[in-house]
Amino acid sequence: MNLINKMLAAQVAVLALWAVSAQAATKDEIAERLKPVGEVCVTGQECKGVEAVAASAGGGARTPDDIIAKHCGACHTAGVLGAPKIGDSAAWKERADHQGGLDGILAKAITGINSMPPKGTCADCSDDELKATIKKMSGL
Ligand code: HEC
Repeated sequence: MNLINKMLAAQVAVLALWAVSAQAATKDEIAERLKPVGEVCVTGQECKGVEAVAASAGGGARTPDDIIAKHCGACHTAGVLGAPKIGDSAAWKERADHQGGLDGILAKAITGINSMPPKGTCADCSDDELKATIKKMSGL
C-alpha cells in the first residue's frame, strides 16, 4: 500500500466512525421527540394524577343520575343501537334473566357487549357505581 492509499483508508475509517456516531445521535433525538407528552393511564393500574383531578372536579360521590346524564343516557334514553331503554323494565329483566341476574348484566356492562362500550364510556366508574346506575335505569 502506498502512502496515498493509506491516507485514503484512514480518512474512510474516520468518515465511517463519524457516520455511525451521527446516526446514534439522531436516533437519540428521535427517541426524545417520540416520547409521549403525557403519561397514558391504563385501566386497572394506578393513575394518581387522574384520580386527583377527578376527585377535585367531582367534589363528592356521583349519583346514578349524574352518571346517566354524563354517559349512559346518550344511548339508553332513546335506545340507540338497540340499547335497552331507561325505565323499560321488561327489556332489562329479559337481559338480566338471560345473563344470570343483575350481576350478569353488570359484568357485560364492564367488559362491553356488541355496540355497548366497556363501562358505557364511564372509564373511571367503580363497579358499585355502575351497578347502582344499572339498577336506576332498569328498575330491577
Ligand atoms: C354508545 C352507546 C352506549 C352507552 C354510552 C352506554 N350503553 Fe349500555 N348498551 C348499549 C347497547 C347498544 C346495548 C345493547 C348491547 C347488545 O346486547 O347488543 C347496551 C346494553 C347495556 C346493558 C345490558 C348488557 C347485557 O348483558 O345485556 C347494560 C347493563 C348497560 N348497557 C349499562 C350501561 C351503563 C351503566 C352505561 C353508562 C355507564 C351504558 N350502558 C352506556 C349502548 C350504550
